[in-house]
Amino acid sequence: MWRCPQRLLLLLLLAAEWALGARRGRGRRELAPALHLRGIRDAGGRYCQERDLCCRGRDDHCALPYLGATCYCDLFCNRTVSDCCPDFWDFCLGVPPPFPPSQGCTHGGRIYPILGTYWDNCNRCTCQQNGQWECDQEPCLVDQDMINAINQGNYGWRAGNHSAFWGMTLDEGIRYRLGTLRPSPSVTSMNEIHTVLVPGEVLPTAFKASEKWPNLIHEPLDQGNCAGSWAFSTAAVASDRVSIHSLGHMAPVLSPQNLLSCDKHNQRGCRGGHLDGAWWFLRRRGVVSDHCYPFSGREKTETGPAPPCMMHSRATGRGKRQATARCPNHHVHANDIYQVTPAYRLGSSETEIMKELMENGPVQALMEVHEDFFLYQGGIYSHTPVSLGRPERYRRHGTHSVKITGWGEESLPDGRTLKYWTAANSWGPDWGEKGHFRIVRGANECDIESFVLGVWGRVGMEEWLTTEAVATVPGQPAEEPPVAWGPRPSRLPVDGAAPDTGRCRGPNPRGFR
Ligand SMILES: *[C@@H]1O[C@H](CO)[C@@H](O)[C@H](O)[C@H]1NC(C)=O
Ligand SMILES: *[C@@H]1O[C@H](CO)[C@@H](O)[C@H](O)[C@H]1NC(C)=O
Repeated sequence: MWRCPQRLLLLLLLAAEWALGARRGRGRRELAPALHLRGIRDAGGRYCQERDLCCRGRDDHCALPYLGATCYCDLFCNRTVSDCCPDFWDFCLGVPPPFPPSQGCTHGGRIYPILGTYWDNCNRCTCQQNGQWECDQEPCLVDQDMINAINQGNYGWRAGNHSAFWGMTLDEGIRYRLGTLRPSPSVTSMNEIHTVLVPGEVLPTAFKASEKWPNLIHEPLDQGNCAGSWAFSTAAVASDRVSIHSLGHMAPVLSPQNLLSCDKHNQRGCRGGHLDGAWWFLRRRGVVSDHCYPFSGREKTETGPAPPCMMHSRATGRGKRQATARCPNHHVHANDIYQVTPAYRLGSSETEIMKELMENGPVQALMEVHEDFFLYQGGIYSHTPVSLGRPERYRRHGTHSVKITGWGEESLPDGRTLKYWTAANSWGPDWGEKGHFRIVRGANECDIESFVLGVWGRVGMEEWLTTEAVATVPGQPAEEPPVAWGPRPSRLPVDGAAPDTGRCRGPNPRGFR
């Protein structure tokens, strides 16, 4: 009679399942132990309120997920054995909840359990047994007290919260956002090349490289949490100078990653490096464009080995080189190698730096970065004394390098004139004045005038350039005779370097005229 017993069995099974399921729904709720007997773990949580849910009588659908279980916002939950959401009494009945206030700590209108945590900027706060929060006490990179003190102190610049720095400690800022190692004494004593100002020569009161060389001055990049400013400032200055000296025939953004990954001699990649070594590499090995060899980025939490060198080259005669590897970015085919001539150190005088900048392009400058510099958002920077009264660990500094691109002056309300340099940093376009900053000029503020380098791009015109004795970097292997390089008839290598003055200039902004 039944031709398909399997089908009947299936129907019966489904019916049984359904009946059982319906009963189990009710049973499950009644049999489950009350939530508040198991301990309300989120006593401050808003559940019924967030969904605007309050139901009369019994309504098993008037339910919300609650920390891996279910809580209800209907009247039926208000039994001796209760499974109400924690805010049911308060929100639906308007009465205080019938359970004792739970052990925990409150923060931002929420109750956290014992050992619960939240982040207060760069510090982790943990809920203690006694119901009190206990927070780490690390100085943070973005420090609201310091921001307020700077902005109220009339120091000539504005401080603010750079969102990429929020949540970092000051120590992490010094360790991951700078990354230039101080040159050894043999390098700092390297000959300076002095520019002679013709008697009566007057330099303009303002200068912008991007106005003199439109489209040849490149925008600042972002080193992220890679302590590789040595590679970023070198690539930035080389990019501009190769573009300027080739009269715009080439205008590459040169690759900091090529330096970070491949310039290994005494360099530490994203853990810092030397400027003289970077220039040596650019001269002898050369680098490709940033497009060809893009920045791989690095987060402060990352450990493990640095990425291997992905670009190689071979000599093609006359000191020039050709890539023997394809671009790490496989969408780019142009793997031309760009090189420079030996870098030269400028005299530490303001006018010599200005003349060099105006004639040959942006220069590279070493700089001592202090805790307040991270907060810079605009104006003319000078190191402020706002942290002087605080413990030592709030007053930190480290060595950085940047690209100086121009200068100017600003009249102050009190009639004085404040002279400044304009420089490009490598903290991205959102920091400071579109990635740039202005800093007091003529006072060696933060050491910015103490170690300034220029270089001449190798732009395929060596044939008509003169060979000249130049200041080379001591300690670097001399494997080839000096290559011919730029026409610098007004320069003479002179013995002796300016004394290294050490730190930022202290509390008072100098550079006033
Ligand atoms: C809910 O439960 C509380 C505590 O058991 C009781 O005082 C209150 O009368 C109940 N409310 C309703 C509406 O049943
Ligand atoms: C700073 O910026 C971050 C990220 O934009 C933000 O989350 C934080 O609340 C800001 N801090 C202050 C004090 O404004």
